Amino acid sequence: MKFFIDTANLAQIKEAQDLGVLDGVTTNPSLMAKEGISGEENVLAHYRAICEIVDGDVSAEVISTDFEGMVREGEALAALDEKIVVKIPMVKDGVKALKYFSDKGIKTNCTLIFSAGQALLAAKAGATYVSPFIGRLDDISTDGLGLIESIRVIFDNYGFDTEILAASVRHPMHIIECAQIGADVMTGPLSAIEALLKHPLTDIGLAKFLADHAKANS
Ligand code: E4P
Repeated sequence: MKFFIDTANLAQIKEAQDLGVLDGVTTNPSLMAKEGISGEENVLAHYRAICEIVDGDVSAEVISTDFEGMVREGEALAALDEKIVVKIPMVKDGVKALKYFSDKGIKTNCTLIFSAGQALLAAKAGATYVSPFIGRLDDISTDGLGLIESIRVIFDNYGFDTEILAASVRHPMHIIECAQIGADVMTGPLSAIEALLKHPLTDIGLAKFLADHAKANS
């Protein structure tokens, strides 16, 4: 299972990269705004900076919602670095853009997936990744992990190469359950990744080992 970090914060990306478990980065316009990144040149420079830190795919989202705009923006983003994956929203022109980029060999991530039908359509259009937002579904009392299960079955039934990128991950159990289901990738905050390493018995056990060592060597 690949681990992507879902942020545009360079310090957090570096921290996850230094941990040695990072396979990529996802961003979105809200995450870029959160870091105070605005204006086309600054946005492009920020993506370049992310690509310098991380070894792996970096999803950069288009703002346009029409086909021509998505193609124009996506081509500019893809030209920045071979790590760039053009992130495209699940709208009608987005499906056309997925097919356009797929035919050109440019990687894509279809975002804002909330149903199995949307995932199927994106896969048929040749998306490299589909991003079902599990946390946002859970937020409205809908089964986010159930959606990952459905998409897994559909993709396996037909041998789609499109990877399931479980997005909107909120906590470590989301990651563990996505891994059990067989999501190809998860993207979440640094806090969810770091929470995986925590267990109270590990802390208690380590404290005892160190105390016993100190006693024996005093
Ligand atoms: C996916 O790529 C999105 O950037 C992201 O996972 C959305 O997560 P949120 O629901 O926490 O905003």
